[in-house]
Amino acid sequence: MADQRFNDEHYLTFALGKGRLANKTLEILEQVGITCEEMKDKNSRKLIFVNEELKMKFFLAKGPDVPTYVELGSADIGVAGSDTVMEENRNVYEVLDLGFGKCKMCVCGPASARELLQRHERIRVASKYPNIAKDYFYNKKHQTVDLIKLNGSVELGALVQLSDVIVDIVETGSTLRENGLVVLEEVCPLSARMIVNPVSMQMEKERIRDLVLKIRNYLAEKGEA
Ligand code: PRP
Repeated sequence: MADQRFNDEHYLTFALGKGRLANKTLEILEQVGITCEEMKDKNSRKLIFVNEELKMKFFLAKGPDVPTYVELGSADIGVAGSDTVMEENRNVYEVLDLGFGKCKMCVCGPASARELLQRHERIRVASKYPNIAKDYFYNKKHQTVDLIKLNGSVELGALVQLSDVIVDIVETGSTLRENGLVVLEEVCPLSARMIVNPVSMQMEKERIRDLVLKIRNYLAEKGEA
């Protein structure tokens, strides 16, 4: 059955992770000729912004919800960190590494925990990213661990002995340094990714291909990807 979303009036819809991710994405889109004047009004309480001329819509969502909107077709295209894309593990195509928001997913803790990792002991691991942590310990290191899900300030987990180590994002490393913690192992590098709904990828093939190509060329020129 034909997907009712797609007709001549279909607005190519973007779900952007609120905050720095969205701001940086909008900057890049502007550089390739896609602007949304409505979004520039910081006082606006609107949730969905439209560019009638280009037949495009944009909305801002909480980062972890972006893959959900894209998988279920409320957005054709999404921009989220690769941490979120991996953790949510949704049925979406990852079409582009946008090259910004670079950081690393790491196993961190007090230096004394290094030994626990080396001995492959059954340790407690706190993380906002339990799926990434589980995949790393179970599938890559073949180590059984007890996972504890936290929603933020994950470093605390290691500081108050809730867990032996944490799996978390390290950007500048200052949160770790200021709390006497260190990187024990690197899980993977991270950056912002563009993701696409699989049906949109077929139905809007040309528009999406054209957009990806323009952004890729722009990033290559800038030396950012
Ligand atoms: C992230 C991450 C670390 C910190 C790393 O937290 O979870 O805590 O940034 O950055 P740094 O290496 O530059 O210090 P965020 O600020 O997103 O808040 P959260 O801890 O509530 O998730």
